[in-house]
Amino acid sequence: MKKKVVVLAGDGIGPEIMASGVAVLKKAVENAEIQFEFEAHPFGGAGIDAKGAPLPEETLAACQSADAILLGAIGGPKWEHAAQTPEQGLLALRRALNLFANIRPIAVPDALLHLSPIKEEIVKGTDFIVVRELTSGIYFGEPRHLGAQEAYDTNRYHEEEIRRIMRQAFEIAQGRRKYILSVDKANVLATSKLWRKVAEEVAQEFPDCILEHQYVDSAAMRIIQNPTIFDVVVTENLFGDILSDEASVLPGTLGVLPSASHGEAGVSLYEPIHGSAPDIAGKNIANPVSMILSASLMLRQSFDMNQEADRIDRACFEAMEEGVLTKDLGGETSTTDFTAVILEKLS
Ligand code: NAD
Ligand code: IPM
Ligand code: MN
Repeated sequence: MKKKVVVLAGDGIGPEIMASGVAVLKKAVENAEIQFEFEAHPFGGAGIDAKGAPLPEETLAACQSADAILLGAIGGPKWEHAAQTPEQGLLALRRALNLFANIRPIAVPDALLHLSPIKEEIVKGTDFIVVRELTSGIYFGEPRHLGAQEAYDTNRYHEEEIRRIMRQAFEIAQGRRKYILSVDKANVLATSKLWRKVAEEVAQEFPDCILEHQYVDSAAMRIIQNPTIFDVVVTENLFGDILSDEASVLPGTLGVLPSASHGEAGVSLYEPIHGSAPDIAGKNIANPVSMILSASLMLRQSFDMNQEADRIDRACFEAMEEGVLTKDLGGETSTTDFTAVILEKLS
């Protein structure tokens, strides 16, 4: 069986960590029944440079006909003032593929406990999933306007958009501790009042699960104060973006957090939660774990290849446990040396 994986390396550290992710993936599936074909396409700033647009038509068409998509990261100062920015290209891709459910697992493996800036007794056992709505809310609402003296964005949700992301969250919770925390700002925002009402309705469909609500400001505090109580956190687009970056403080770096984005049917996309890290690009020091774990999520969630994914995850955690660490975690191992260690472990 053949499967096509579209590879969007993107900008900044994107190509560096993608090289690592693809090498590890190729090694891990060497003897598998499924044969993977990798097809690279320009996207983001690289799309602008190669084709004059962050999401070139050929890139979108390739994504639409792919079995899965791997994305490194996009953006950077070079394209900040482009007519169409890399970030707009990313939002357009998510929208075009209807990738409304962004799954961001936040785990602190024992290997990283001593590296966390938070006390070990607080972070030990942290294992939750942020389910972020990805194709609506203030990122997409109209009207929006940027004037010299006034600017505005519109936060808008339709109840169907809330219902489908809620159902995703409950389904994920059913395979875990069955505890859903819905995060909103229902004491102020109309969108959040609707969000909370629909959450309660969806909870009726899942009587085996427990639903609680929390305002986003206090949830932000609790993620650091008491991270082990969380199981599944479901929230709107903007809050999910912010809370998941905040949660990266628990393992000690953005560089180890992967994500998966799913639609109702069709192709899924796998990418780290972090950006293109222009401050460290081109230095061969980026942590590739976020990308490697995104590739392993792809094996699990798009191809049901749990054994191969387990081997990849184990290799990463083992390496880190042995002190093979990139600079973001206080180590000195380069991106390519870290990758070589993982490849060796997979041999
Ligand atoms: P960033 O996530 O790129 O970087 C934040 C900090 O984390 C930086 O100090 C960076 O060096 C560090 N970091 C991130 N990933 C790392 C890794 N794998 N290894 C080691 N250190 C890592 O956020 P930013 O600097 O605010 O944004 C840079 C650009 O990335 C912007 O153009 C932004 O729009 C874009 N961005 C893209 C995505 C995406 O492609 N999905 C996500 C977030 C930001
Ligand atoms: C992310 C990023 C993007 C977002 C930006 C680059 C548009 O921060 O993937 O988390 O806000 O969704
Ligand atoms: Mn983000």
